Amino acid sequence: MKSRTSFGRRLVPALVPSLLSILFLFAGSAHPDEGAAPPKGFRSWAHSKSTLVADKGSPLYGFHNQYANQSALATLRKGGEYKDGAIFVDSVKAVVETNGIYAPGPRVKTLVMIKDRKAESTGGWVFQAFDPAGKPLKIDPVKNCFECHQSGAKESRFVFHKYSE
Ligand code: HEC
Repeated sequence: MKSRTSFGRRLVPALVPSLLSILFLFAGSAHPDEGAAPPKGFRSWAHSKSTLVADKGSPLYGFHNQYANQSALATLRKGGEYKDGAIFVDSVKAVVETNGIYAPGPRVKTLVMIKDRKAESTGGWVFQAFDPAGKPLKIDPVKNCFECHQSGAKESRFVFHKYSE
């Protein structure tokens, strides 16, 4: 037992640097793709809320469906600080009315918030927007996104919607 512990003590410091370099390699290779497309598979994430903004004059006009990855969902439900890597997607579709029935039409855009405490100028969230083909839209994350989220959702860590059972 004693020899095992001392072996473990010697092994851990030896392994830590190599594990760290593996982590850095992964982080490095993941970086160039970041923000190039909406998160893969978000349609299979938890669907946390739907909202219809029927006013055509509103900048938020459209059918909004909110999706949360596992980490974002856990915090949305229980409260507290969001962990880095938590992601929300607001999938925005056109509103098509037929005989009083309002249904989601073609995709208008896909909005994304990724928790990253390094994004200090935008409250620790990376804001991204994509066109219907999934190509990044040129946005000013502070003016086009954060200012509204900051003024309307400061108490809930800049996340507007509440989880709807
Ligand atoms: C005029 C205010 C306003 C602006 C500007 C705005 N949002 Fe939002 N956003 C909202 C509201 C309100 C909701 C919640 C809608 C609901 O409850 O269904 C929301 C929801 C979201 C969500 C789901 C998480 C949450 O906060 O509930 C994401 C992701 C999102 N917005 C991203 C963006 C991005 C990216 C931009 C900039 C391109 C942006 N938003 C600009 C008001 C705004």
